[in-house]
Amino acid sequence: MTTSEVANSNTAQDANNRVCIFDTTLRDGEQSPGAAMNLEEKLEIAELLDEMGVDVIEAGFPIASNGDFEAVSEIAKRVKNATVCGLARAGFKDIDRAGEALRHTEKRRIHTFISTSPVHMKHKLQMAPESVLEAIAASVSRARNWTNDVQWSAEDATRTEHDFLCRAVEIAIKAGATTINIPDTVGYATPQEYLELHKMLQARVPGADRVVFSTHCHNDLGLAVANSLAGILGGARQIECTINGIGERAGNAALEEVVMAIRVRKDRMPFLTGIDTHMIARASKLVSNVTAFPVQYNKAIVGKNAFAHESGIHQDGMLKNAQTYEIISPEDVGVHGTALVLGKLSGRHAFRDKLTALGYELGDNALEDAFRRFKDLADKKKHIFDDDIVALVDDSMVRGHDLIQVSDLQLSSGKGVAPEARLSLMVEGETRSCVATGAGPVDAIFNAIRQLYPHTAKLQLFQVSAVTEGTDAQAQVSVRLEEDGRSVTGRGADTDTMVATAYAYVNALNRLLEKRLKTAPEALSVAR
Ligand code: KIV
Ligand code: ZN
Repeated sequence: MTTSEVANSNTAQDANNRVCIFDTTLRDGEQSPGAAMNLEEKLEIAELLDEMGVDVIEAGFPIASNGDFEAVSEIAKRVKNATVCGLARAGFKDIDRAGEALRHTEKRRIHTFISTSPVHMKHKLQMAPESVLEAIAASVSRARNWTNDVQWSAEDATRTEHDFLCRAVEIAIKAGATTINIPDTVGYATPQEYLELHKMLQARVPGADRVVFSTHCHNDLGLAVANSLAGILGGARQIECTINGIGERAGNAALEEVVMAIRVRKDRMPFLTGIDTHMIARASKLVSNVTAFPVQYNKAIVGKNAFAHESGIHQDGMLKNAQTYEIISPEDVGVHGTALVLGKLSGRHAFRDKLTALGYELGDNALEDAFRRFKDLADKKKHIFDDDIVALVDDSMVRGHDLIQVSDLQLSSGKGVAPEARLSLMVEGETRSCVATGAGPVDAIFNAIRQLYPHTAKLQLFQVSAVTEGTDAQAQVSVRLEEDGRSVTGRGADTDTMVATAYAYVNALNRLLEKRLKTAPEALSVAR
């Protein structure tokens, strides 16, 4: 072979072995109870996914709500490299709504789906199998009017009869689908079975060689990642996954796990993805903060303990050679030591350099605000770590535009003292103050907020974590409120846990207002 023939054959091999990473954090991930995200948060996640090299971002389900429509449409305008995808059921209304939301980008995909398993067709759809086949042809053709990039999914594919699944896939391909997704909707499949299912479809369905097959695995039996990898060994070339594996019930296949498994075990899985793995830790933290879903300590790749070595034998081995107990270097996934970063005397320049290294590009005003908060923090806390800076910037971004702000908080509590909160809120430029009591200081703060800004939202979650080690660590508090079946999560960070608590509750309240203001603009001023 000549050099150029070798180069061409390598390129052909790469193209053949390239696995497309389809991220559905903003769609299937957001479907987890309590994981609702607002527009700014979705945009921030989408931009990070784009930057890290995700090929397709499933940005939402446009027919589901105006908020979903707006999110898909804004993400389509903002994303630079990835294809943006919107989900649609088989009906024309769904498909046209997805098409409209995606109008602003050339790189758009409509993902339409319908159930194919006997149990779903009979009980959920209440449709005869022949009608389902007709709906497939009609929905895929309709989607092709909006874009050439159409993905079709057979919901509950792994519990579908093989002959029927082959007919359904063939019809979808004939109608113009370019990607065929084979979801393990209920997380029921085993790896070998899922591999064989993909092979069977590719061997039997006419036209299968013209489309990309995709995996979409749920984690009900803890097999989502194993099944996704089995799927690509069976010939699929797209994996659908989410950051931290969030998703319906037990979640979806975790992006960080499939990507790192492919990278570390290329001897067994000779595939490539386009993901910049150094951005994995940041993406994990962002999604965890936004959703207030903590990452389990021993979670593969992104858990707090994923690179911690506790036992003496392991520590000894690690000191001699990291490869004794580490198959991935933490830096490869963006995990760096908790080295001391900045101190009280650090200037603006060093602070800006640090932000850039952490991946933040702030405008002049935001930078000035973050620097002022950094100086305040440095007065209270001796050692400032990367995680402190991330929490600080995140807190400014989250609460910076809130209409209601905490302006003052004083507490008295302790053994034998009735807990009491003196709180002042700034609402539409007007200061409101009160004193409230409660069973404990948190209860007193929440009662004070309810007194100053009456509302009926129910508290669903109150969660406190420490940003770093040490008793002077910043507390990061998440508060989830629910109103009329919709939940929102607020966040706050401060070295004083009670101040962070007040910030987080008020932030959640602001987010409820954002939702209400969209439907009733007078909502803010009527609450007195
Ligand atoms: O799990 C599932 O089947 C889905 C489909 C909409 C692809 O999420
Ligand atoms: Zn799913």
